[in-house]
Amino acid sequence: MTVQVGILGATGAVGQRFVQLLDEHPTFELTCVTASDDSVGETYREAAEWRLSSKIPEFVADQQIRETDPSVVSDGVELIFSSLPSDVAAAVEPDFLEAGYVVSSNSSNDRMAPDIPLTIPEINPGHLGLLEVQQENRDWDGALVKNPNCSTITMVPTLAALDRFGLESVNVSTLQAVSGAGYSGVSSMEIIDNAIPHIGNEERKMETEARKLLGDFDGAELELHETDIAASCNRIPTLDGHLENVFAEFASDPDPGAVREAFRDFESADLHSSPDQLIKVFEQDTPDRPQPRLDRWYADGMGIVVGGVRDTTEGTQYNCLAHNTLRGAAGASLLNAELLVKEGWVWHPPTAAMSSRTTLVRGVHTEAVDFLSRLDRHSTWINIHRPAVSVWTGLRLALPWAISRQSTVLARSARAQRGSGLSQRSLFDRPTRFICAKPSGGELISGWG
Ligand SMILES: NC(=O)c1ccc[n+]([C@@H]2O[C@H](COP(=O)([O-])OP(=O)(O)OC[C@H]3O[C@@H](n4cnc5c(N)ncnc54)[C@H](OP(=O)(O)O)[C@@H]3O)[C@@H](O)[C@H]2O)c1
Repeated sequence: MTVQVGILGATGAVGQRFVQLLDEHPTFELTCVTASDDSVGETYREAAEWRLSSKIPEFVADQQIRETDPSVVSDGVELIFSSLPSDVAAAVEPDFLEAGYVVSSNSSNDRMAPDIPLTIPEINPGHLGLLEVQQENRDWDGALVKNPNCSTITMVPTLAALDRFGLESVNVSTLQAVSGAGYSGVSSMEIIDNAIPHIGNEERKMETEARKLLGDFDGAELELHETDIAASCNRIPTLDGHLENVFAEFASDPDPGAVREAFRDFESADLHSSPDQLIKVFEQDTPDRPQPRLDRWYADGMGIVVGGVRDTTEGTQYNCLAHNTLRGAAGASLLNAELLVKEGWVWHPPTAAMSSRTTLVRGVHTEAVDFLSRLDRHSTWINIHRPAVSVWTGLRLALPWAISRQSTVLARSARAQRGSGLSQRSLFDRPTRFICAKPSGGELISGWG
């Protein structure tokens, strides 16, 4: 299966990592790159000022930079990665969502919104269920998933591994690389021979996003984890790799051996970009590791490295490290996208040509069957949103004629692809939205509802 993807903000620090990670990815094919108006019309090679040590991938070098606007996205793109500055993302991402795209975003806007999943696939894949809530709440035909801030991603897998001991409070201090601020973020005159004990909003992001990631989702609402988190964030003159000193208190008082074992035992996810061993642990005979220069490439930059585990009067102390633009940014969005595909949330949005001939209709069971029975052989594109329970099962029962007439029927739902064996009736037992278009011209099928 190949899914065509686009990157918003493809020329930046995170955008370049996306490009690098998508080179030879088994599922995703990059066919659309966007950036600011200054870059539109240039080739990717001209606009990007490639700064990674690997060569600029040939497949993208001559692609033309497009405007960051859904109406000019290449036909066939199904999934969008967003690595825009957050103020730009806040203005632009809704346009892509309204146009029906699935967006895996790295930008910080809306991460704490109660109906937007903030996910790390190895930690809280079940929070993707919030997309059902999102589709109820928002007038979007697409779906939006966020990954957390880079310093939060470095710490949270380690807290998730230790939550079995009853996590009560966390105090963390970070040593963050300059690439975390983007290319123009920190000038060399500011950072060489220096450390800056403040990163705008970073402390608040760590304190809030971690509680959302570790929270419980009951199928309708997400309850934040009750642990107290206090963070202090520092910029230091390393290029890549955030190092963090964590002090954590637990209801039970695990000894350092039990803590190391919990890190080692923590399961990874069955996704292409997820490492076999998510957390690598340095034993007590190597207390000076992890270090950014030596350890940021663990698992090709997608793993977490911990060390220096010890008991203190304030609980357990340890140090953790991750590559901030890979595991902490582009790699995190990529993993979320792999999860979205695995769970059946990626579908074809209307193309620009289609959307003028697209109708949205709502209804319940009987109207839905009536509507679908009026589709004819020329209806080649159907997108069903808000499936009730089991779309694939339902479709196979309700629409064998549609499939036999080579209609392309696309559905999204975690449960849909697994098929729960429920009957046709369950398919439409709550309001369901249909989009139906004839891409090659002709009359639109009239709506109902
Ligand atoms: N760097 C990290 O480690 C990291 C980690 C986690 C999250 N993030 C988040 O990821 C996002 C991107 O960060 P970055 O470090 O890659 O930033 P960056 O290096 O400054 O890149 C920004 C990208 O956005 C484009 N852009 C800027 N203004 C635009 C506009 N008005 N319309 C369309 N495109 C526009 C730029 O295009 P031009 O080249 O044409 O200017 C560039 O492609 C930010 O939200 C950041 O907070 C970064």
